[in-house]
Amino acid sequence: MKIIHISDLHKTSSFFIKEWGNMLIDQVNRINPELLIISGDITDNGYYFEYEEVVEYLKAFKIKNMIIVPGNHDARNEGYRIFEKFFKTRYPQFENDEIVILGLDSSEPDLDDGHIGRSHYKYIENCFKGKNNKIKAITLHHHLIPIPGTGRERHIPVDSGDMLKLIKDLGVNFVFSGHKHMPWIWNLNNTYFINSGTSATRKLKGMGYPSYNIITINKKEVRINEINLITEESKMSLETIISNGD
Ligand SMILES: [Fe+2]
Ligand SMILES: [Fe+2]
Repeated sequence: MKIIHISDLHKTSSFFIKEWGNMLIDQVNRINPELLIISGDITDNGYYFEYEEVVEYLKAFKIKNMIIVPGNHDARNEGYRIFEKFFKTRYPQFENDEIVILGLDSSEPDLDDGHIGRSHYKYIENCFKGKNNKIKAITLHHHLIPIPGTGRERHIPVDSGDMLKLIKDLGVNFVFSGHKHMPWIWNLNNTYFINSGTSATRKLKGMGYPSYNIITINKKEVRINEINLITEESKMSLETIISNGD
């Protein structure tokens, strides 16, 4: 199966480039993944009109399954309530024969810092119970491990240490995030932490480019390609074999 991971559209901001947004739709629809992951900051300030506009934009993706989590920008101005109105939940899930993905809201209203919260740990544990025969994945907006080339660390979830321990204990294979507008992959204790760059805005770091990730799963073999939206070249890739407790 194929999954595409995009992030940080910041729709309606002057940073969103319409042409890039259309290129993203074309490329995603052409690849036709089974699942599209959007790891937050779909709006720029969480306003109702922004949600209306981004919901309209997302209709152009002809992908059956989408898993969308809110980012810090989406939670601004009580936007988290609007997020729930349009997308039903801030904790979406997807599961098929191969993979179980759990979406988490790591945002705090009108703060840029991340926070998962102890009260959610049991819920996360229960979601992965009895799923050892599948690839386990989490998506949340905030990065759990600092990303190089993004300045001094200041927004990492305040409980990232405990969350990393939980991820290790539960044998989570992949964590998909955004927020930093910088593509990157870390491997820690057999978990891959995959960050997507901003997929269609010019909110880029240094000489950066808009990007997204393609995840190709063939039984336990997984390939991750980070794609430059402009050139469609794969800039960073890795292949790995997933071994779970089964
Ligand atoms: Fe962002
Ligand atoms: Fe963000």
